[in-house]
Amino acid sequence: MRITLRALTHEDVEAHNAGEDERTVRWLTGGYGAVESTTVHFDRLADNARAGCGKRGFGVCLDGRLAGYVDYDPDVGDGLETGDANISYAVHPWARGRGVAGEAVRLMCEYMRKHRIGTRAAIRVDPDNYSSVRVAEKSGFVYVHDFTSSTDKQPDGTPVTMRLYVHDL
Ligand SMILES: CC(C)(COP(=O)(O)OP(=O)(O)OC[C@H]1O[C@@H](n2cnc3c(N)ncnc32)[C@H](O)[C@@H]1OP(=O)(O)O)[C@@H](O)C(=O)NCCC(=O)NCCS
Repeated sequence: MRITLRALTHEDVEAHNAGEDERTVRWLTGGYGAVESTTVHFDRLADNARAGCGKRGFGVCLDGRLAGYVDYDPDVGDGLETGDANISYAVHPWARGRGVAGEAVRLMCEYMRKHRIGTRAAIRVDPDNYSSVRVAEKSGFVYVHDFTSSTDKQPDGTPVTMRLYVHDL
């Protein structure tokens, strides 16, 4: 099994959207991507890559096939300290349960270290999202504390509690 990260292009939009399911929506995106919204998202990532700032996102490939998504965002402040860069990820349902996310996180941390992005990588996860909690734990991230989000809300409007994990870069 070979995991690689690469830039996302318009040719990836269909496979990216097809790789979303109810877990992706519940725990990460808040809604299914459409061709237009995903294209705008990828274009924004490409702009950030050119400018060398802001959120940077990559396709996660498993033996060359698009199998997920990972990004870091140095501009997320909710629950984080200066110098923290937030990491988010999703793996397509067909590729889950094989350690793809952990390897993507490892490669992302390597990239951040090389490009001097922040002093700590952070994973913020809802405690009920057991699969993602396991990714943080298995990737060697250290649990800091649970905190009440000032930005994310439950469907009923109550604030989300998140668990913060960090890894020195
Ligand atoms: C969280 C997620 C990225 C994990 O990716 P992954 O590559 O399957 O990760 P792993 O293979 O390391 O599995 C992690 C845990 O998921 C669970 N798991 C195993 N197989 C699974 C499957 N087929 N489907 C769902 N979860 C599974 C297990 O609890 C596993 O922990 P374990 O290794 O201790 O048994 C993936 O489930 C996902 O895309 N979820 C929706 C988006 C999301 O939650 N993003 C994170 C937001 S903080």
